[in-house]
Order: sequence, then C-alpha cells, then structure tokens
Amino acid sequence: MKLLITAGPTREPLDPVRFLSNRSSGKMGYALAHAFAEAGHQVLLISGPSSQPIPGGVDLLPVETAEDMYQAVASWIGRMDIAVFAAAVADFTPVEVFSQKIKKSAERMTLELVRTKDILGSARAVFGFQGYLVGFAAETENLEENARGKLRKKGCDLVVANDVSKAGLGFDSERNEVILVFPDRIEPLPAAEKVLLADRIAEIVLECVAER
Ligand code: PMT
Repeated sequence: MKLLITAGPTREPLDPVRFLSNRSSGKMGYALAHAFAEAGHQVLLISGPSSQPIPGGVDLLPVETAEDMYQAVASWIGRMDIAVFAAAVADFTPVEVFSQKIKKSAERMTLELVRTKDILGSARAVFGFQGYLVGFAAETENLEENARGKLRKKGCDLVVANDVSKAGLGFDSERNEVILVFPDRIEPLPAAEKVLLADRIAEIVLECVAER
C-alpha cells in the first residue's frame, strides 16, 4: 500500500530571520511513518522542519511553509491509498514578508495575517482523493464533538483526536493519548509512548482498509 503522511510544524516567514510556527516536534507523524513502513508499506513523509531521524525505508519530502506543504500534498496524494495528516499546519500566515530584518523602531507593531489553505479539507474537495483519509484534531476543549465535526466536514474516514491541553502529552512530548473517532464508533487509546500508539493506529487503519 502507498501512504502519504504529513508531520511536524510549518514555518511562516516574517522577515529573513524570523517566522511564526508552533511546538510540533514531528514525533507523532514520524512514529506513524515508521509503523507503516515496518508493516511493509511504501511511505512518503511530507514534513515541516523537525529534528526527528528519518525512519528507515521512508521517503522524506521536507517542506517549510503551509503553502509548500499544500503544493507537495497536491502533487502526490493522487497516487496514494492512504493519507494521514498529523502535521500542525499554521492556520494563518503573514500577509507581508519583509525583505529586510524588521527594525525595532516603534514601541508596538501590528502583524496582519491571512488564512492558509486547509490541506486536509482539500484532500477530497480539491484533490479528489478517493483513498482512506485520516485527519488529526488537536483540541483544548470538547475533544470528541470537535473531532466529529472535522470528520464530517473534511470527509475523513477517521479522525485521531488529542487533547493538547494535558501536561506531558501531545505537542513535543514522547507520549500521547488519543480518541479514534470513526463515522459510526469511537475507540479511546489510553496514554502511551507515541511509538506504541502509532503501531496500534497503523494496525487499526490497515484493518479498516482491508475491510473496505
Ligand atoms: O509533532 P508532535 O510534537 O509529535 O505533536 C503531535 C501533534 C499534537 C502535532 C499531533 O498529534 C496533532 O494533533 N496533529 C494535528 C495538529 C493540528 O494542527 O490539528 P488541527 O485540529 O488544528 O487540524 C486538524 C487537521 O487539519 C489536522 O489533520 C491538520 O494536519 C490539518 N490541517 C490543519 C490546517 C491546515 N491549514 N491544513 C491542514 O491540513
């Protein structure tokens, strides 16, 4: 089977030395890439900047911005059987990228931001992806309800929901705790190392795909 997995943060440049980003380390997405590759599948990992080692047997396509990630996914998703969107993509990007380093001449400064493209939301609607689609939901409240909304709106087969307000879990930690939200059921996976959760998620996804 061929898989596309997105991972890591994106970086939205402000000037030659500054950017807007988030705390995603790439650990969850890289663990998933490793799990699917170990199971004998062909994995393309489209990743924002991350210091995680590239898992053996995985093809890495490094990207920087949300727009780069959108273009990379647009180019490759048509060839895939399964797509998993674990990246923490910036929802907003600066309207203007300054060509010179911004000077601290004023006491205050206002940045104007514009929405980025919704890559997961484009998978079915714009790229016409027909394969098994897995989104993530990073929430700080109403975890299951918000994940269910994303599942419906973006045409996912599964949303992996994580509560990113819990200490020691989620962004930039070794562990996570997730609820798998399917159209007809939910399956909570208790807190565990991301590598173990990734193995279980890969197993479940591959079972679902085999049953389709
Ligand atoms: O990288 P780690 O440090 O290991 O942390 C893992 C994680 C917390 C980043 C990961 O488990 C996770 O939750 N990833 C999704 C983070 C996120 O941006 O969630 P969201 O609820 O804002 O987005 C919903 C979905 O849409 C996600 O699948 C996201 O990849 C996707 N998205 C979001 C915005 C956008 N412009 N394009 C997208 O494709």
